[in-house]
Amino acid sequence: MKPRDPAAVEQLFDSVASRYDQLNDLLSLGLHRQWKRQLQCFLRPKAGETWLDLCCGTGDLALELARHVRPGGSVLGLDSAAAPLALARQRQGRQPWLNAVFQQGDALATDLPDASADGIVMAYGLRNLRDPAAGLMEMARLLKPGRRAGVLDFNRLTTPGPAASFQRFYLRRLVVSVAAAAGLRQEYAYLEESLKGFPDGAAQVSMALESGFSEARHHTLVAGQMGMLLLKR
Ligand SMILES: C[S@@+](CC[C@H](N)C(=O)[O-])C[C@H]1O[C@@H](n2cnc3c(N)ncnc32)[C@H](O)[C@@H]1O
Repeated sequence: MKPRDPAAVEQLFDSVASRYDQLNDLLSLGLHRQWKRQLQCFLRPKAGETWLDLCCGTGDLALELARHVRPGGSVLGLDSAAAPLALARQRQGRQPWLNAVFQQGDALATDLPDASADGIVMAYGLRNLRDPAAGLMEMARLLKPGRRAGVLDFNRLTTPGPAASFQRFYLRRLVVSVAAAAGLRQEYAYLEESLKGFPDGAAQVSMALESGFSEARHHTLVAGQMGMLLLKR
């Protein structure tokens, strides 16, 4: 599959949706929840605020944010694929007190008003976008001045060493074998492909500053395997 091809990416996430959460928990040993919590610690969502979760998938982060912005706040989760959104809506239906709405749309062209969000998150989405720089530009456009956004994704390791070797082993052997057992070998082989050509932390910082953010920092997690891009408009 061609990385970052919008139609192919949409089809991919539609096809893995029913197993996505299970595999995510298994392949990260549940740690993705911890990384998402760390992202929220930096962003500090508050009661009454309006937040966006771009590339929200099955909605776990959007619903966590909805917990934090109570009372009076709201979260809009946006994703281009219908199947993960259906699961997100089911999840929300089990917690109807959380004010989250899930909508199908393109993170590169949301049609939402300028400076309408108090905060924005994007977890494991930037790597999948046809044009990551355009994704950051859209985030900057949507964010109110002085507010924060955060992007969580795999960290692209460009220098050889133990961390890069582990990442290659993890993506090529572990992920693909586990996914193959679930009948999703091809779909998860895409993970390594999608990381090729993805900007590394330093490049993401430059890209974010050129996209309209006034501050940008990149932190790595789990010995460089994951990256968190922390942004201020
Ligand atoms: C790896 S999943 C991450 C889902 C969720 N944020 C999480 O952390 O579990 C990437 C998601 O990005 C969505 N996506 C990819 N390209 C998109 C685009 N251009 N606009 C909106 N969503 C997109 C996919 O449909 C998929 O649900």
